[in-house]
Amino acid sequence: MTVPANSPSTAVKIATLAEIKARGGRIAMLTAYDATLAAQFDACGVDAVLVGDSLGMVVQGRATTLAVTLDDIVYHCQAVARGLKRALLVADLPFGSYPDPGTAFRSAARLMGEGGAAMVKLERAGPVLACIGYLVERDIPVCAHLGLTPQSVHRLGGYKVQGRDDDAAARLVADALAVQAAGAALLVLECVPAGLARAITAQLAIPTIGIGAGAGCDGQVLVSYDLLGVSLHRRPRFVRDFLAGRGDIGAAVRAYVAAVRDGSFPSADESY
Ligand code: KIV
Repeated sequence: MTVPANSPSTAVKIATLAEIKARGGRIAMLTAYDATLAAQFDACGVDAVLVGDSLGMVVQGRATTLAVTLDDIVYHCQAVARGLKRALLVADLPFGSYPDPGTAFRSAARLMGEGGAAMVKLERAGPVLACIGYLVERDIPVCAHLGLTPQSVHRLGGYKVQGRDDDAAARLVADALAVQAAGAALLVLECVPAGLARAITAQLAIPTIGIGAGAGCDGQVLVSYDLLGVSLHRRPRFVRDFLAGRGDIGAAVRAYVAAVRDGSFPSADESY
């Protein structure tokens, strides 16, 4: 399938994400935690860079994301922001930083004001819907995150694929519609069956970004260390080492962007 290219020079704005979906394009997103790699990703055509709380696992060496603080995200966001020219900067609200709408606003305002983020990401629907609405009404663009939500690891009983049975799939569809109705402009779907992610993507006006959610999403995100084949943890099925067989990080990132855009990543074997 031929997919129109995303503009290599124009800065990516929130509206650009919806435009890419509307014309059948795909959004290539990667996590970054420092200025040097962020600049490299930006130069290689990555559309959006996420300062994810995955930094707790890949930078800090922890078993979960739960100990990451707002100060940690602000610090890494500032570094990443210095490296970016074109890509949209998205920052995670870490565990415990959005227990209620007012606190979520103060946390998100730090990520935008001090960190330079253009959008904040937060996990789950349910009680979090009020936070999404409150932030959006106050000019804070929101990316929602459903499916496997790593901040819920203890409730979920581990890092497991979500939405496998009919009830769970129906709940996930309802949650996706609810975060859109609350005002989210982007939705990350993590570790859900490919068919379900494709169905959700078709029902939503806002773009979906998959990680372990198949090729039917409007874009993909990977933890950048996974893309480069380095990890302290077991490699999940949806990860592809794009550095293997390529000479340098730039070639690996360009190959990732191309594979996201042409829909060849993830393959069926890399999906659930
Ligand atoms: O923290 C993170 O890096 C994330 C991505 C895996 C989506 O939330």
